Amino acid sequence: MAEELHLDTTLSKAEQYRQLLPQIEALTTGEPDLVANLANTVAALRQAFGFFWVGFYLVKNDELVLGPFQGPIACTRIRHGKGVCGASWAQAATLVVPDVEQFPGHIACSSDSKSEIVVPVLKDGQVVAVLDVDSDQLNDFDEADQQALEQLMPLVASWF
Ligand code: SME
Repeated sequence: MAEELHLDTTLSKAEQYRQLLPQIEALTTGEPDLVANLANTVAALRQAFGFFWVGFYLVKNDELVLGPFQGPIACTRIRHGKGVCGASWAQAATLVVPDVEQFPGHIACSSDSKSEIVVPVLKDGQVVAVLDVDSDQLNDFDEADQQALEQLMPLVASWF
């Protein structure tokens, strides 16, 4: 297992994701523990990009329950269809929200969060978790984030 991330911050965001994703795979290969792998994944993403908040919510008994995350304390439970996370779960689709105040029903765990991307983790066609990434800047997520984070999700799904 690699013990350090190798990141070239002079590269474009898309290229940095291309560098990072295989390192997340290497970091988690051979480790069967779900929490350990989710924890290192959010740590790697935060270390690489300095996101304000990055974490997983896991589907448990018809709710999303807070899982491994990095950043300020957050809401622990989110109902189906509620907030950006619950909407991503209900739609089984990635949601990119450039301004959280414009998203009806957005759940403000922190007033510092300004934009957000939520990517579902699909296992056998069912959403088993969502990855939520928040920024304290408006309009901070684009197609490069969406493409790379969606590309990461089959690996994440394999841990469930
Ligand atoms: N804003 C999210 C809730 C989770 S926190 O941002 C960590 C939402 O609307 O679902």
